[in-house]
Amino acid sequence: MSDELERQRREIHSVLQQPGVRPDDSVQITRRTFVHRSLLFGAATVGQTFAWWPLLNTIDIAHAAEAPFKFAWISDTHLYEKSLNTRFVEKVVRAAKDVQAMDPPADFLIFGGDLAQLGKIEELELGNEILKEIKIPKHFIPGEHDWYLDMGKKWGELFGKPTWTFDHKGVRFVGLDTVSRGPDYWTAKKMTPEERMGHMATLDGTVAGPWAGVGRDQLDWLQNKLADWDKSKPIVIFTHNPLYEYYPPWNFWVRDWRDVHEVLKPYTKVTNIHGHVHQVLYNEIGTTRSIGMLATSWPWPYAPEGVPKLTKPMIRVDPGDHFDGVGWEKIAVNPGNQVAKDDVEYVMWGRKEVFIQSESDYGGNTPEILRARIADNMYPY
Ligand SMILES: [Fe+2]
Ligand SMILES: [Fe+2]
Repeated sequence: MSDELERQRREIHSVLQQPGVRPDDSVQITRRTFVHRSLLFGAATVGQTFAWWPLLNTIDIAHAAEAPFKFAWISDTHLYEKSLNTRFVEKVVRAAKDVQAMDPPADFLIFGGDLAQLGKIEELELGNEILKEIKIPKHFIPGEHDWYLDMGKKWGELFGKPTWTFDHKGVRFVGLDTVSRGPDYWTAKKMTPEERMGHMATLDGTVAGPWAGVGRDQLDWLQNKLADWDKSKPIVIFTHNPLYEYYPPWNFWVRDWRDVHEVLKPYTKVTNIHGHVHQVLYNEIGTTRSIGMLATSWPWPYAPEGVPKLTKPMIRVDPGDHFDGVGWEKIAVNPGNQVAKDDVEYVMWGRKEVFIQSESDYGGNTPEILRARIADNMYPY
């Protein structure tokens, strides 16, 4: 490693890891294991009457809320038209039924983007129709697959503004658009809308480049919207892309993530819940924690440079089962005496266990690679 790279790594480490700064003192990650319902029917010797749940694992995160409630998250459905492919349709239908069956019902659903695969009117309308089966309030943020065919026109007609905020039981919720401010890679090359969309629809899209970002205008909006919010009260920010730098070549980041954290720094209980990565992730920067959610469509591999140190990776997926490695999430916000907890439940249909159990299996002892600002040098913004 060059001296310069080493110096930059030390610099970024000292910036990101200030002594004693964490999202909340009570932050902890725990796993809760429930027994899969199928075991009840499969094992004759098991006759107890206590509750049987799908086997879920949860991440406990700290929050203070006025009253307990749950909300649900579905994202990355990547719908094709039914005439082309029904397996993705089946999975959204299943997720919608699951959410609708929650008892007590979730207070609301967040749809975290990539409803469509190629941004087509038919795909977006199909997704909208399926999600209508969910009767609780729904809030939508866009993914790049929804946007770059018509630059968000149809998405906006169906779902309204991509940036929003509301307060619910002591928590300020914010939806941000991290997809629409990509640099123009199409005009000079005289691309058709389909070609423009095509470059967005690949994971390792070198032509589309660093499209994920929040943008100065939205950062100013965010700062404004948080100005009257008590610094110690909880904030939950929904984004399609993670609000930190995980893996820039796949846009597993926003290119202005440092500016985002400048805005969020004064607030002590910030949680970012994001899609796009199609995998279980957990990370902390300063006072903000980020949680990556499952897709219903397919799981992406983990980045070749490894996962954030605090991530407990999800299990490998059975490629023969298209319900494996995918699913949706329930997020519980519960009050407590002093510090309450959030539970994020990964509902992964194909598996009884969600997280890797064996340390040697996921390289948990490998030191986290803190890349220097290579990405910023490659992708100036
Ligand atoms: Fe996606
Ligand atoms: Fe995406």
